[in-house]
Amino acid sequence: FSLKPYNTFGIDVKAKQFISVSSVDELKHVLKRFYTEEIFVLGGGSNMLLTEDISKTVLHVNIKGIQTIEQTEEYVVLEVDAGENWHDLVVWTLNHNYGGLENLSLIPGNVGTSPIQNIGAYGVELKDVFVSCDAIHRQTLSHKTFSAQDCKFAYRQSVFKNELRNQYIITTVRFRLTVNNHHIKTDYGAIKKELEKYKISNPKPQDISKAVINIRQSKLPDPSVLGNSGSFFKNPIVSYLKYKDLKSQYPEIPSYKIDKNRIKIPAGWLIDQCGLKGYRDQDAGVHKKQALVLVNYGKASGQDILNLSKKVQHEVFQKFSIQLEPEVNII
Ligand code: EPU
Repeated sequence: FSLKPYNTFGIDVKAKQFISVSSVDELKHVLKRFYTEEIFVLGGGSNMLLTEDISKTVLHVNIKGIQTIEQTEEYVVLEVDAGENWHDLVVWTLNHNYGGLENLSLIPGNVGTSPIQNIGAYGVELKDVFVSCDAIHRQTLSHKTFSAQDCKFAYRQSVFKNELRNQYIITTVRFRLTVNNHHIKTDYGAIKKELEKYKISNPKPQDISKAVINIRQSKLPDPSVLGNSGSFFKNPIVSYLKYKDLKSQYPEIPSYKIDKNRIKIPAGWLIDQCGLKGYRDQDAGVHKKQALVLVNYGKASGQDILNLSKKVQHEVFQKFSIQLEPEVNII
């Protein structure tokens, strides 16, 4: 069974068997039938690099549904099943005039995997709208509801990527969205520019979404056209001392202050400075418009992309003594 249509990198690896489940009962049934080690859980396939055939049964979580479970004049709480496509959910909320997800428009992947890496873009992270999620333990089949605090969200991080890695399958996520008094976030320079272009001074969530879609489409490749997994690396966090040192050599270096001692540097800029933007080795490449994104021009294997990522890490380390860490899960 080819997994090519099920991973946004478009890597053609085979799985022993493929089972798609569309309800929690079906999910539990499958979990009962197999040993935990025999199962490989697949969500939207948007944040992974498959480097070899999977000798396990692939479990595709395809549970769907959107429900309003609480509504006041100020906010709504939505309960959304794991298999819903992320951007379809964003569009659904905007059609209902709910605010909160607009900055997260056009992120590939599914709702169920969004908490795992606390997806984020243009000044908003999942944790800003997250209420709780339900998950099933892979071995005991017990249900657990995780509050935002339980999830231990941080930059592209959560408990599901760390101490609870591979232990739970998320089935439902709850979001709190605004009905009135939307918290419009335009701090991101590129969004401001887009709004100015269209002379929008009092933006609604829908306007922010349009701006984000324009920005993303102008530099991020569409996975259905050019295989990719979004940012391949995390933006590294360096000490203030290290930053000062870099700044003296590269006065134009972009940066985001995290706190007094820590500064985040865009990995895309570092890679770009190494002259790697647009670099291509056969079908594995560094995207022409955003150096943080590695792309599959068609027939690259997972190993080809992995080798390219190592080359990028090596060159960035040689030039800046900064070790880039993959954001994508390498399998
Ligand atoms: N830059 C370059 N050259 C490049 C790429 C970037 O010089 O080739 C510079 C830009 O000019 C800018 C800075 O680096 O000054 C940051 O670039 P950008 O605004 O494109 O954002 P990013 O830091 O590269 C992060 C997220 C993206 C998210 C954007 C917008 C991470 C790892 N990535 O990218 O998330 O969409 O900010 O918020 O934090 C993803 O996770 O898959 C993803 C796409």
